[in-house]
Amino acid sequence: MPIAKKIASVFLIGIFGVPMLSMLASPTVAQQKVCTVSDDGFAKARAAFAGMADVLRNPRCLNCHGGVDPFTAGKKHEGGLYDVIRDKGGDFLMETFDQCQLCHGDFPGWRVAPMSMSFVGKDNVELCKLIKRNSNSGIGLIDHLRSDRPPFIEVGFKGTRGLNEAGRNMVDNYQPDPIRGVTQGQLIQMANDWLAGLGTNGSSGDIITGDATSDCGCVQHHYAFEVHSEATINTDVVHLESGFGSMPRIPIKFDKDGAFHSDKTPLTQTGAAHAVDCTAQSASQLTISTKGNVVGGKPIDPWNPNEPKPNDRINVTATGETTKATASAQCPKAGSISISSPGPTSKSFTIELDAVVGARSKPTPSLPGVQGAGGSTWIKLIQID
Ligand code: HEC
Ligand code: HEC
Repeated sequence: MPIAKKIASVFLIGIFGVPMLSMLASPTVAQQKVCTVSDDGFAKARAAFAGMADVLRNPRCLNCHGGVDPFTAGKKHEGGLYDVIRDKGGDFLMETFDQCQLCHGDFPGWRVAPMSMSFVGKDNVELCKLIKRNSNSGIGLIDHLRSDRPPFIEVGFKGTRGLNEAGRNMVDNYQPDPIRGVTQGQLIQMANDWLAGLGTNGSSGDIITGDATSDCGCVQHHYAFEVHSEATINTDVVHLESGFGSMPRIPIKFDKDGAFHSDKTPLTQTGAAHAVDCTAQSASQLTISTKGNVVGGKPIDPWNPNEPKPNDRINVTATGETTKATASAQCPKAGSISISSPGPTSKSFTIELDAVVGARSKPTPSLPGVQGAGGSTWIKLIQID
């Protein structure tokens, strides 16, 4: 039965001929950058940030960050209501805070944080995003916590509210009311632990904490490569279609320093063909695994959302391993045949694409050089959660 065997083998060749992943990259429109924080690092970062957030919510920090508003009636300021001093154009003037010295005179420069830095009513994720937005860099944050000028943090830990005698006289049984149970040194340590979990030691220029516009470092994200692959052959004699049916996803896991891997993900590729008066079917079981890293594209000023950044790139090595492949053909006149592949085969491909959600590799023909062949193969980076 040569004809059936020939068709079945053409099919097998077709299956193995599919280069599962393409080699070239195409530029994509820049979107949300991939967050390369590992699960492990994120767990540590989240725990450290929870400790920081408890300090941020302490009244000694919170009251200056939106908790007490001496300019709005009914906003809990023991010391009364004050007018905002503005210039002729209506712009806020720092002279506004000169009024505070009457009672907060033990702390030159006493003032409240702008509402954009309000900590009030924010959960840990919101606080985390706020801290990212308002710090120029990891180092900038550590510096601020260690030695901001004027020393707001220090006075918070001391609990004096900067009150001079006039101010203290307004409080029944005045006593300093410090932040308890945690020291400024421990706050700095928690901030360092947060940054370390995210894969940065507080250095600016880091790609992870560096994107002030994203919630990277505050929320854990996971990604996958989606494999798009179909192959067709259409000639006078043969019509063949082969593909994965749906678009399989290969989840990736970030390890350290932007490196990632994915476990072997099982996939099934099926096909159907008819040729002359024969029909044929195929099924192959394969696994795809990937490894690689996110490189380059370091922003010039990483915490400045307006700074244009060259896109990071993802280098991927994908390995496809066919564990089992069978094809059968039925020819009414010549009989039927089933054949299997001669054992596991494996192929590796290198791919490059932008490190942004939705980036795609350049499509490559699935069956290059095969007469009448069409279909292409490419991968797309997607965010799972
Ligand atoms: C007397 C008011 C006051 C107190 C008390 C205060 N802050 Fe602030 N904080 C400010 C102001 C004002 C800013 C705005 C930046 C500036 O003007 O220096 C600020 C900015 C910040 C920033 C953003 C700056 C950066 O580089 O990241 C952080 C974080 C911060 N404060 C944390 C704290 C923590 C933690 C505490 C309590 C230990 C605290 N603040 C207590 C007034 C205060
Ligand atoms: C007439 C005195 C007086 C003046 C002037 C004054 N305050 Fe106060 N303020 C107080 C007193 C008293 C408290 C402490 C209330 C308490 O903790 O029991 C206080 C508390 C605060 C707190 C809360 C601090 C904390 O750690 O809980 C903030 C914030 C604050 N004032 C901001 C201002 C600002 C800003 C100005 C200037 C616009 C100002 N105050 C002017 C008397 C004054």
